[in-house]
Amino acid sequence: MSFTPQFLDELRSRVGLASIVGRRVRLTRRGREHTGLCPFHKEKTPSFHVVEDKGFYHCFGCGAHGDAIGFLMQTGNLSFPEAVEQLAAEAGMEVPKETPQERARAERQSTLTQAMEAAAVFFAETLFRPAGAAGLAYLRGRGLDDAAIRRFRLGFAPESRDALKRALGGGAFPEALLIEGGLLRKPEDGRDVFDYFRNRVIFPIGDRSGRVIAFGGRIIGEGQPKYLNSPESPIFHKGRTLYGWAAARAAAARTAPPSAIVTEGYMDVIALHRAGFETAVAPLGTALTEEQIEEVWKLAPEPVLCFDGDAAGMRAAVRGLLRALPLLKPGYSLRFATLPQGEDPDSLTLRQGPDAMRAVLDGARPMAEMLWSLEWAAAGGGSGGPATPERRAAFEHRLEERVRTIADRTVQEHYRRFMRERLYQTFRPQRAAFRGAGGAAGRPSRPGFAGRSGGAHGRPGWLPAVLPAVTRPDPEAVSRRRQQEILFAAVLNHPNLIEHFVEDLAALELSAPDLDRLRAEILNTAAGRSDLDAAALRVHLTDRGLSEIVDAILSRQVDDHAAFARPGVDAEEVRRGWMHTLTWLYAPQRQLELNQAERDLADDMTEEKLARLMLLQKQRLDGTSEEPLE
Ligand code: UTP
Ligand code: MN
Repeated sequence: MSFTPQFLDELRSRVGLASIVGRRVRLTRRGREHTGLCPFHKEKTPSFHVVEDKGFYHCFGCGAHGDAIGFLMQTGNLSFPEAVEQLAAEAGMEVPKETPQERARAERQSTLTQAMEAAAVFFAETLFRPAGAAGLAYLRGRGLDDAAIRRFRLGFAPESRDALKRALGGGAFPEALLIEGGLLRKPEDGRDVFDYFRNRVIFPIGDRSGRVIAFGGRIIGEGQPKYLNSPESPIFHKGRTLYGWAAARAAAARTAPPSAIVTEGYMDVIALHRAGFETAVAPLGTALTEEQIEEVWKLAPEPVLCFDGDAAGMRAAVRGLLRALPLLKPGYSLRFATLPQGEDPDSLTLRQGPDAMRAVLDGARPMAEMLWSLEWAAAGGGSGGPATPERRAAFEHRLEERVRTIADRTVQEHYRRFMRERLYQTFRPQRAAFRGAGGAAGRPSRPGFAGRSGGAHGRPGWLPAVLPAVTRPDPEAVSRRRQQEILFAAVLNHPNLIEHFVEDLAALELSAPDLDRLRAEILNTAAGRSDLDAAALRVHLTDRGLSEIVDAILSRQVDDHAAFARPGVDAEEVRRGWMHTLTWLYAPQRQLELNQAERDLADDMTEEKLARLMLLQKQRLDGTSEEPLE
């Protein structure tokens, strides 16, 4: 049974979280929040908060965190589906029931999966029989040993119209199903159905959990099509599948930090695995889809795209880049490795070994650089790049257009800054004759470029016209900044509590350099000292030229929202307020994670997915791992 995210959202918006929680916890209303004694741990003063309009609860004492569904699961010891059903009953919503058609479909899928497995066994066995000799010789000729052959369950479809048909006969699998799954083919002219794969080396294709859902069949030697793939079927969706994913997932879980490689072909994945790069996957002969990009991000945050060193490989990489651009999110990107002309990972590792491959992967370039290089090349003018002001302006426009396709606003803004910095470095007036920058690698050719941080040079007068600062005030950013200032106000007024704040403070992602500087100065001065008083800290910061920001923070922030940060408030209150503020700052990110975990669970109702959701719901906030308040 699975619930759609739409259904779950609707459900959550219909039930009042406070009324659900209110049955077990006496809640007191405080503005848009309710507070009470946490039902998940023992406490005497309330640290359990219910944020009705956001639909979640959080305990600052024990870190319990979740929504209405999670609350019922935890307090009522219910499973996820049970909690959903109970809530739906209360909300008067009908739980989408599995219809007879859906049940029949699920059964067909399960039978089809069994048929695929049976076919995989048949192909694998055939490879080592006389009928498979040609296939085995072919694979050995390509450098594969038996271990690799077995690991990837490679097989052979014999030269026969009905070898598989007979092997799967006996009535276990309805013929119509085998046709639907692409194992058999029905000729138009009414003759007997026959085997879909004939005289081909077989590469079984697995789903996320490694179950065989399709096959790729390679012709022996030359011929068209080189690879024949199973058609789409109720269990095989090409655009959602990556060859080698399950093995890569297992490998990624073993390595820290996890890595992932996206390559083009079946043989490339196998070659990479054999060379020790076990997190390699490949799409199935098509351009990377959005779904596949999301899939590889489950393996690692910055997978390397390693496409063939030819024009087609380059085009595929570019398509991957443009497709990934709108999907970028903080921390998640792609990197791009360039293979030598005419090589693919299979040929390179065979001829030059794993070290050559390692060098290629190590040279992978970040996405932002790749984008710059692409537009640079497209802007023309050869390796000198766009030479006239008009072409430079057009180049800049194109960059901006690309950057604007990034949906995540933070990532978008960082791309914009990156491009602006690059534009500035590339086009700023130079004493020597202009020598251009970039070329294929996109690196400015001025010696010493890399070592300069840029900040020291004054901007030439013409620059603002070329690089307009796009700074629209963003209400979300303004309120994030305010929350950060509140945290600073707490520290400034209560430096004696610095020991409690220091880790959170250090980990905080700040929105502006002035706050960054202030933090550095505070951490330098106050960390490790519990004797510092507020006045001494201010004197010190003033000495360091920070009086302006300190004054601004203290005058602005000790308002209603930040009563806890005022001088004289008792320590426990300050600490609670601190955590509260941090929760708000981290809430969007946590919510995204929770949403994702929920979608994953809805997709695929496994214990593992459920455990992940429960963990996220329960987990303490990162960086606020305070002991429970007494
Ligand atoms: P390549 O032609 O680059 O294949 O296609 P390759 O992996 O290097 O193949 P070998 O080394 O000659 O055996 C890359 C991928 O594109 C898909 C397959 O998934 C292949 O692995 N493809 C290619 C097809 O689906 N059909 C084709 O006809 C060719
Ligand atoms: Mn190849």
